[in-house]
Amino acid sequence: MDRCELERLDGELRSQWGIDLRSIEEPRWWDDLARECHGERFALFRELQLRYSERACGAQADESLERAFYDLVAEEPFSGFVHSHRRGVILDAAVLVDDLIEREGITGRVLDVGCHVGYLAAWLARRDAAVVVACDICRPALAAGRLRCRALGRRGEFVEADLLPAGGDGRFDVIVAIDVLPEERQAGLRGLRRLAAGLSAGGWLILSTGHPLDVAWSPLSRVRESLDTMGLGFVEAGCLGGVVAAGHEPLAQNVFVLRRGGSQSLPEDCVDRARRGWSAFLEYTSTPGVADREKSQAWFELAGTPRDC
Ligand SMILES: C[S@@+](CC[C@H](N)C(=O)[O-])C[C@H]1O[C@@H](n2cnc3c(N)ncnc32)[C@H](O)[C@@H]1O
Repeated sequence: MDRCELERLDGELRSQWGIDLRSIEEPRWWDDLARECHGERFALFRELQLRYSERACGAQADESLERAFYDLVAEEPFSGFVHSHRRGVILDAAVLVDDLIEREGITGRVLDVGCHVGYLAAWLARRDAAVVVACDICRPALAAGRLRCRALGRRGEFVEADLLPAGGDGRFDVIVAIDVLPEERQAGLRGLRRLAAGLSAGGWLILSTGHPLDVAWSPLSRVRESLDTMGLGFVEAGCLGGVVAAGHEPLAQNVFVLRRGGSQSLPEDCVDRARRGWSAFLEYTSTPGVADREKSQAWFELAGTPRDC
């Protein structure tokens, strides 16, 4: 993606979805949020957020808590405030998928699974060639996404579905699963199997877990066996995300591109490969003159290209 398009994406995230450079780790975050919402909703959000953030990686998911949290986060201003913390991940994921669609000339169906309010799906739906389907189990988020997508004049379809929409077997040329599969190996791989079934022959799966894959789904040897059984080949490993707010630790996570029918097994060092560019990225983030909002992987890749759009 070129710089103009990346600036457009960043602008769209900010203006349409309230996703901006800010982090829940900033002391002012809670005060800013309190100023923008009703006291009762704020109190409810604070309680749910606290309980939600205390979940441990690998622990059994508390489904009703998760659902209540995501239902509330579908409302403004929570949606923008909460998703801003993951702005770099969201931005970089959009670029990665967009570049894949462009490079491979994909014109079929693209599924954004666990789309929440649909910022990624809406962005991808600006392309006339691809048919974008977004699914989630959170009805308020789907309703918000549908409305916004329509207001943007785009054709994305928002459907309620547990991972794979009904009749979705073999239908999708790209499936994007960012932070949606459970971070517990058995449940995570069960979900992955469902998604693999949704791919067309040669279809692509973009998978990212919040914690590194060898932590989320340990041990990796079991993940490799399962991917082989599902017929999912490894294509590449990378990183999404970066600086979330001035002076705060960068937030980044691994991402894997897999392909149905691909022959390469998941490499043992796949998590290290995902981190490979990290020290160069950190060096870039400490370069004088680089704006904080440009400190993510997608911006890093553009470093040195002309600025004028
Ligand atoms: C952390 S958010 C990630 C949103 C988005 N993918 C992103 O990366 O910004 C997780 C989303 O997955 C949804 N989700 C959780 N389990 C799901 C399932 N089984 N099927 C569909 N969506 C699910 C939640 O409702 C929530 O909207």
